[in-house]
Amino acid sequence: MILVTGAGGQLGRELLRARWSDGAAVCGYTSAELDIRNPDAVGSVVETLRPNVIVNAAAYTAVDRAEDEPDEAEAVNVTAVKTLANAANHVDALLVHLSTDYVFNGTKSGWYTESDPISPIGVYGRTKADGEQAAEAAHKLLTLRTSWVYGALGSNFVTTMLRLGAERDELGVVRDQVGCPTAAGDLARAIAAVAAAVGYGTRPTPQRLYHLAGPDAMTWFDFARAVFASSSRCSDIEVLPIATDEYPTRAARPANSRLDSSAIRTDFGVELPPAVQSIANVVHELESSPRTATNRI
Ligand SMILES: NC(=O)c1ccc[n+]([C@@H]2O[C@H](COP(=O)([O-])OP(=O)(O)OC[C@H]3O[C@@H](n4cnc5c(N)ncnc54)[C@H](OP(=O)(O)O)[C@@H]3O)[C@@H](O)[C@H]2O)c1
Repeated sequence: MILVTGAGGQLGRELLRARWSDGAAVCGYTSAELDIRNPDAVGSVVETLRPNVIVNAAAYTAVDRAEDEPDEAEAVNVTAVKTLANAANHVDALLVHLSTDYVFNGTKSGWYTESDPISPIGVYGRTKADGEQAAEAAHKLLTLRTSWVYGALGSNFVTTMLRLGAERDELGVVRDQVGCPTAAGDLARAIAAVAAAVGYGTRPTPQRLYHLAGPDAMTWFDFARAVFASSSRCSDIEVLPIATDEYPTRAARPANSRLDSSAIRTDFGVELPPAVQSIANVVHELESSPRTATNRI
């Protein structure tokens, strides 16, 4: 049994539709069904289901709002993670916890590996960094740092680009931040593969922390152009490269957050598909499905 928290989010929804091998049953709880800040509720669900694996896809992910709501972000991204780790220990489950590229400050010129020092520059990144520490209370742990998550289920950069592309003739997009776009569906399938590879918690993992992100690095500007190149509806829009300071945001973002995912590829043979392919798949799904095409950010 796999328990998924945050099952209404981008990754959570994809985890529920991923194919899990060995007939593993997956049980997802949205925030309304299970608030991970409530230790009694978490304890009760975990005691009842007695999962082998808990995938924590729940998080406070509003990067800008977190600057004004640090306590709210900390409650979900740190305190609740400790609760989940303790609950996992109680039933001897593997905790699969998700973290972020925003634990880095972005000043490194190359790709970030798991051994690089973390130094978050915003509240969201700080709480996620503290959440990694909180997850360390789990006896069986896989913390997976990912980045720039997008998909057909939820609101994200791709859904925003498609919406703006339908409204405007030109669009300025930041050209001086670089990262690795990661499709939520690819990430969910990779998590399922890694969980199966460790026997759903019955075999030890070589490391407790891995990077797991899309293999290709690009700027937001390049990402936008890839979205429009795949779009059948807004391929005429002109995308203009702009600097970060021309698009001020409440929270600072790392200028470079390229995640090197080679360790998980070496240890588990897991590698996400090329960005161009995954972006095209998501754009196609958004533009061909009336249900997902109504996503708004
Ligand atoms: N999105 C990205 O670009 C990105 C990048 C790097 C890492 N990550 C990490 O990847 C993971 C998955 O992110 P995502 O993109 O799937 O985020 P998401 O779409 O924002 O989903 C997060 C989910 O967590 C739920 N949640 C919030 N507070 C909760 C609580 N107290 N109890 C239970 N559920 C709660 C939210 O429910 P409500 O909507 O009802 O609040 C939402 O469904 C997170 O750990 C995130 O930090 C994401």
